[in-house]
Amino acid sequence: MNRFSPINSKLPALWHGGDYNLEQWPRETWREDMDLMDEAGVNVVTLGVFSWVTLEPEDGRYDFAWLDEAFELLHQRRKHVILATPSAAPPAWMSAKYPEILRTGANRVRRLHGNRVNYCWTSPVYRAQVRRIVTELARRYGNHPALVLWHVSNEYGGECYCELCRQAFVKWLQAKFGGDLDKLNAAYWTRFWGHTYSTWDEIEIPGEPLGETAVQGLSLDWRRFTTDQIVDFMVQEAAPLREITPEMPIATNMMGVYDGLNPWKVAPNVDLISWDSYPEFARQPMGWDNWASVALRHDLNRSLKNKPFLLMETSPSSSNWYSAMTLKPPKRHLFEGMQAIAHGSEGVLYFQWRQSRGGQEKFHGAVVSHGYTNDSRVFGEVKLVGEALKGMDEVLGAPSPADVALIYDWEADWALKGSCGPVQGNKGYYGTAVDWYKPFWESGITVDILSSECDFSGYKLVVAPMLYILKPGVAERIRAFVESGGMFVTTYLSGYADENDLIFESGYLGPLRDVFGIRVEEIDALPEALNRRIDTVGGLGGSYVASRFCELVHLDGATPLAVYGDGFYAGRPAATTHRFGRGQAVYVGSRNETSFQRHLISRLVTELGIEKCMDWSLPEGVIVRSRGDFLFVMNCKDEPATFEIEAGLVDVLTDETATTRLNLEAFGTRIFIRQPFGGKARERTATVAG
Ligand code: GAL
Ligand code: ZN
Repeated sequence: MNRFSPINSKLPALWHGGDYNLEQWPRETWREDMDLMDEAGVNVVTLGVFSWVTLEPEDGRYDFAWLDEAFELLHQRRKHVILATPSAAPPAWMSAKYPEILRTGANRVRRLHGNRVNYCWTSPVYRAQVRRIVTELARRYGNHPALVLWHVSNEYGGECYCELCRQAFVKWLQAKFGGDLDKLNAAYWTRFWGHTYSTWDEIEIPGEPLGETAVQGLSLDWRRFTTDQIVDFMVQEAAPLREITPEMPIATNMMGVYDGLNPWKVAPNVDLISWDSYPEFARQPMGWDNWASVALRHDLNRSLKNKPFLLMETSPSSSNWYSAMTLKPPKRHLFEGMQAIAHGSEGVLYFQWRQSRGGQEKFHGAVVSHGYTNDSRVFGEVKLVGEALKGMDEVLGAPSPADVALIYDWEADWALKGSCGPVQGNKGYYGTAVDWYKPFWESGITVDILSSECDFSGYKLVVAPMLYILKPGVAERIRAFVESGGMFVTTYLSGYADENDLIFESGYLGPLRDVFGIRVEEIDALPEALNRRIDTVGGLGGSYVASRFCELVHLDGATPLAVYGDGFYAGRPAATTHRFGRGQAVYVGSRNETSFQRHLISRLVTELGIEKCMDWSLPEGVIVRSRGDFLFVMNCKDEPATFEIEAGLVDVLTDETATTRLNLEAFGTRIFIRQPFGGKARERTATVAG
């Protein structure tokens, strides 16, 4: 088994810890915290995320004494430090002195100082200030033996509508269209509603409540620009770190499928992918299968660099920004941590270590809760994670190879969101991706989550639901993939438009019609209360409910997998398959209930000989996931489960060979290693690794 090297060889273990905002507390509390961290098995903490004003109380007057002391204390206690750059929260004195650094809202009003991530992406003044403080930090702490990772800023996001940002956007457009305004007008189809631009300077930032909302290409480019501008900001923020500490890895914490920043543009500029996971378990009822959505986001983060990532933040209890702060039942916290590790995380980190007494997040869950130390229920749950992580160091660096890729494309999502029709409001791009992901997740098949711009040629099966736009080269790569033996599955609302949201002249699915062997003529968008039926042809399990989108397609070489069962298009194809070259292209024209996806995927997986990590028959709610040689068995339900597993599995945490009848408590998790030769799990791992 080829392992990845640890995030930093100074700390070759699974990481456990989190945001330690210690400037809120007196020194006695720091010492108490160190003891508690020992007890909870914490080996790393993040310092400095919002610490700018504490580090620089006045312009140019630094106070590093407290941070020096914190580093020393942590180092003495054999704990490591992730040091953040503080750009997420500039000091109030800075906003007062240089108001241009503040962010301007979509209403074109510059905001007042406050909150966080409230700065302009373009302001040269802010960029220079950031460079200055980051340079100081890199010089002072870059060689500290406790330092293991730079944490650049915090959750980059949001948009700025100031004049500087507008000008930067216009420049970006000029570069994209090679300075040719006619090209922009043509690409945006601006003759519609007489939107033609006569000079570059007429271009305003689009969007509600004041701006243009009727030129989809412009709205798409604004989103692309915002990502590029954030990434540019990040690269500049990280530049002093790269210069002064070239060996120290750099990460920034991202936000799952947050649509304001395309993480694929961030990924090449960081050494480690990290993200903040706050599953919304306050949503009532959170069905067991909602854990698929968390799993998908972990897989996305692993796929971004095709290597292990770090769960940078999660709540050890609940989050105060949920609609209701529902508590996690016992063992749920361990379950969440193990799920992250199963999908490729190299640790479990929290926001935050000690619950604040005041401020916006005073009720947010923390390891050390109000009025308690090690005697709280939550602390006990965190300790369980610490103990588990200590016992499973062998998992560190283990890979998660995948035969299957699911394309979840930020730009397709943006274009669908920006389109008026076929339905108003949410078109369900993310939910659809989760729905297609579920059958793999349920059957123990690892999936990589890619963008359409990734190279998917090496996979056996690629699923790309609602791939609405095809950026240049994508259709060609899909064609080549199928031609050379790949299986490609796509759905309604795919291949409609080019990168500027201009519908293909040859119609929907235009450039891929021959690959799929169909023509897509119309799309029937159904009101929420209306459903249709599809009847499968040839053993895909009968009939299914279709909702929301039903496309009317014509066969042009393809074979139907299902036909519509009602509506004026009853009898016409609803899903098709087509041999093309050495591969197969499957088209699903309607949004169907999940069981259709289950049947279809199960058939394709068998046809392609894609391996599952086990062939046990699992009760509903139990998920098995492999990472390297390890099997993570997770009960996603709040009730116990009992089932048969294979013989010869060794429990990694107890080193005991498991009986073939497994009892999993509510949210129970077990980590096994296959043991064909007898003996201990650790001995076998040593042989494999050595
Ligand atoms: C994250 C953020 C943290 C904290 C946390 C609370 O989004 O990075 O600083 O606010 O949310 O859930
Ligand atoms: Zn701005």
